This record gives sequence, C-alpha cells and structure tokens, in this order.
Amino acid sequence: MVQIGVLGLGNVGSAVVELLEKDRDGIRRQLGTDISVKKVLVRDLGRARIEAAAGKITDRADDILEDDEISLVVELMGGEQPALSYVRKALSRGKSVVTANKEIIAKYGEELAYLASEAGVSLMFEGSVGGGIPLIRPMQTCLVANDISMVMGILNGTTNYILSRMDESGCEFEDALREAQELGYAEADPSADLSGADARRKIAILSSLAFNAHVVPEHVEACGVEKIAMADIRYANELGYKVKLVGYGVRRKGQVELCVAPVLLPHGHPLAAVRDSYNAVLVEGDAVGTLMFYGRGAGGMPTASAVVSDVVEAIRAKDAVRPPFSCYNRLGVVDPRLVVSPFYVRLQALDSPGVLAFISGVFGHHGVSLSMVLQKSRRNGVAEVVMVTHPVQKGALQDALAEMEGCSQVPEVSNYMRVWE
Ligand code: HSE
Repeated sequence: MVQIGVLGLGNVGSAVVELLEKDRDGIRRQLGTDISVKKVLVRDLGRARIEAAAGKITDRADDILEDDEISLVVELMGGEQPALSYVRKALSRGKSVVTANKEIIAKYGEELAYLASEAGVSLMFEGSVGGGIPLIRPMQTCLVANDISMVMGILNGTTNYILSRMDESGCEFEDALREAQELGYAEADPSADLSGADARRKIAILSSLAFNAHVVPEHVEACGVEKIAMADIRYANELGYKVKLVGYGVRRKGQVELCVAPVLLPHGHPLAAVRDSYNAVLVEGDAVGTLMFYGRGAGGMPTASAVVSDVVEAIRAKDAVRPPFSCYNRLGVVDPRLVVSPFYVRLQALDSPGVLAFISGVFGHHGVSLSMVLQKSRRNGVAEVVMVTHPVQKGALQDALAEMEGCSQVPEVSNYMRVWE
C-alpha cells in the first residue's frame, strides 16, 4: 500500500482525489499495489468538501510532510509560496513529489530536481504544462534521440477560449473571459492568463526540456492579449490569418529565441485550427520531424489525468528514479529587438492629404518596407489604417511606431503583432 498526501483541494486537487478513488481498482491491477490518499491539506477547514476527501482533511501541512507513512506528496496548491517550501521539505524528507505547479517548476525546477536526485526520489510535473496532454514525459523520454530546433504552442486555455469566442461569435472580450472563468479554465487571478505570464512559465519549462538548458520565465519576452480588439481579429481573418497567443522557443545558431505573444498564424498553420480551451504544442526534432500534441490544456479533470499518471509513474519508477531535467547546455537568448519577421500594424491616422506619405516616410527612415496597406473605417476625420510589413527587425519597427505615435498625424498606434511565416 502506498500512502499519499495531497496539498490543496481546489479545482484540480478535488479532481485528483476523485479520480484516484474512481480508478482505484484499475490502478491496483496495473501497479500490483494499492494507493490510498491518507491526508489532504486545505486552507479553510470550514468549507464544503468532496465526499472522497471525507475524514482526510487537515489544515496543518506538517501532518503530511512529517508523516513517515506518506511516501508521495501531490502538490496542487499553485502559486509560489507556501507551495515551494512544502515541496522542498517533502523532497528533503525523501518523499517523491508530483506537482502541477508551473510557477515553481519554471523558476526553481533545477534546484528541485537537484533536491530530488540527492534524496533519490522522483519529481514529476506532467500537469504543469498543457493540462491533460502527455507532453513532459514524451519530451523527457521519447524524444531524447532528437536535436530539437523548435517548440511552439498554444499554452493557455483561457486566452485561447477568449480568442476563439471572439473570432467565432463576435463575443466581447469580457464576456468570453467570464465564460472561461465559469468553466474553471482561468487562474484565480486571470491577469496571469491575460498578460502571458502563465504561458511564459510553460514555454520556459518546455524550452528547458527541449534544449537541455535551464530556461527561466525571465528569459522569455512576454506580451499578453490585453491589446487585442475585435478589429484585429476581423482584419487578420480578411488577410488569411488567425490571431493566437503562442509561446515559442526556437534555436538560432547556438542561441534561442524565446517569446510569448499574440501572432498572426496563416489559416493553414496547424496551430491556427486549435480552438476553444484546447492547447497544442508543435515540436521539431532532427530525427522525428514535426510532431503535434493536442488536447485539453486546462480544467480540473484533464489536469488530474496528467497528475494521476505521474503518481502511478512515480510509484513504478521507485527503484529507477529518472532526473526530470538535464541542464548541461548554456544557451544565449536572442535579443528580441533583433528578431526579423513581417509584422501586422493597426493605427489611427488623420484622413488628410500627405498622411500616408508621412507614415511611409517614417517607416522608410527606419528601414521598414510595407508589403500591404489598407485604409479601413473612418470616424471624425480619423481613419483606421492596417498594414503588413516585409520582414524587418522588430526593434526598427518599434522605433518607427514610437516616432510616429507622438505626431499629430497619428493619434494612436493601436496594435502590432508578428506575422508568422
Ligand atoms: N489558466 C490555465 C489556462 C490553466 O488557462 O491554460 C492551466 O494551466
């Protein structure tokens, strides 16, 4: 019998306890041993609880961390503290840890992996990226024969849900966000979803695995969806693109380009078809070619599916513990201003003679060449102008936009996004 302790009984914690209970017989048959949830840590003893946790609830973490009968701790509290201290303590006391906490894995993964290997126990985090999609283990094991040149994905269910709803039903941003929250996709504080911080942690974890280097969130330039308007989604569609919040790590001659940002993906791109709260990740390996992983990236049960698989795997691997990361590479990070790509730009310009010439003059001065210009709606003498540039350094584009935004001819630069080629 393996006794486990669960830290946290929120959306994912409750689903994990229920799933372990529901699958108990199947798991026993697979493992040849029984798993039992001995204790569950909650913050507030007074709140209503699921039946499967009855009689197991405690509000003292040490009831789990200092219980020698508990050999495996499942951390599902989220957030940095106190989760990080609890995970450190569990590993130091020789307990395996399964977590879905992308915050602590992205930031402290290397240290926690070291603690786990010192103690000879497992540290597993399949649920930290892509919810129910098997992604971490395939990267740790099935793809080791590959030199990976790119990992790119739609890594946040909440924002993908919002962008899909806006695209398909013309729904306003706030309404789509409320729906995503009601469906349990969003973080308690949705600003981490909307600002790209959530996807940034996830691409840091995936890039660490892909490039065998320690990539932390601070290495990843991140921009969220807050500036995206219905107009951008409409124009992108007219031009043959979908707006998607993507995270990517791309190897470029010994350096790696790391970014989370909304981009325009051509309609035919595999990630352009990923809708609703689904996540998908593309991996390019030199031996395997292009792979795509696709599935439910958020929500209690899909994430519980990944967590329970880690629990089973950690028990199976008891005598042959595998290090979760191998961080033997030291990679430089590409300066985001030097990235070369076409860009989409939407701005508000005075609808008077010479204004387009002024705009193209500023662009020309910064070496930005335009491949397409559309003048769209006009209100109170101000026209909305949509442009696509030829491939250009991002820094040059930003300098040009900063210069023209201060001028009377261009009251507002509304948005700009990379166009994925
Ligand atoms: N808030 C996250 C998302 C949940 O929307 O994808 C899974 O990490």
